[in-house]
Amino acid sequence: MEDPWQKAYDFAVAVARKAGAEIRKAGESEIRVMTKSSTVDLVTKTDERVEKIIISSLKEEFGEDAHCFIGEESVAKGEPCVLSDKPTWIIDPVDGTTNFKTKKNFSFELLKDDLFKLSFVEFGVVYSCLEDKMYKARKGKGAFCDDEPIQVSDMKDINKSIIISEHGTDRSPEKVTKIFSTMQKILCIPVHGLRGSGTAATNMCLVATGAVEAFFEIGIHCWDIAAGVIIVKEAGGILLDVDGGPFDLMSRRMVSANNELIAKRIIKEIEIFPVGRDDAP
Ligand code: IPD
Repeated sequence: MEDPWQKAYDFAVAVARKAGAEIRKAGESEIRVMTKSSTVDLVTKTDERVEKIIISSLKEEFGEDAHCFIGEESVAKGEPCVLSDKPTWIIDPVDGTTNFKTKKNFSFELLKDDLFKLSFVEFGVVYSCLEDKMYKARKGKGAFCDDEPIQVSDMKDINKSIIISEHGTDRSPEKVTKIFSTMQKILCIPVHGLRGSGTAATNMCLVATGAVEAFFEIGIHCWDIAAGVIIVKEAGGILLDVDGGPFDLMSRRMVSANNELIAKRIIKEIEIFPVGRDDAP
């Protein structure tokens, strides 16, 4: 039987490579930064340009109206952020813009394309373009870094685990207090370490490769994590809401982990604070 998504998957990988080359080139010049929802929510001309390149490449390949798009920078400019029953690409042109502008982190440039169909992920692509590592996964077909299969860690002992989290872009004191209180409680479980790469997509790939046991964040957006969701799942990991319930892509809350034991132990320590949904009217 013909596999309808293979062509789209292969094309996503090719587009990610093309966009990654653009991002690498842009990183060689001075990067001018602008702000969005707050003074720490950053965007550059590269984010906007690369998103346009990705969307126009996809429209050219599949037709103007065949698919829908949710792109971080288009949503920032007022485009809707809702999943319909039409195949939808969810795009974050540069995940970790703060890393990108400082040019400091090994994974400062990153791009991901994700195709959703009927609200579940068919495949995900995360291109860590500085390292030239292509993380990808297709539903039911496994997860890969370049062409090597990847798998989550088999660690069941929280005391020997490494956990990742991020601070997001909301600096209201009551939220920051909860974030730090959660981090303190998790560190004191104790765990072996607490880390953060500065990009949600990379963090999820680190879970998928078994480099760390879990990543959680409240305040992320669907474009930060959509590709990672399928990559983690296909690598054998799990996704939950921060209250232990089912994961919801639009809720802006997520725990991704190698197994349920580790996920549930972290969840016990998470201090939840309210964030508006991505698809809120
Ligand atoms: C950000 C990164 C960061 C996470 C933020 C995101 P962006 O993405 O993924 O790790 O903490 O919540 O907004 O805005 O640089 O694409």
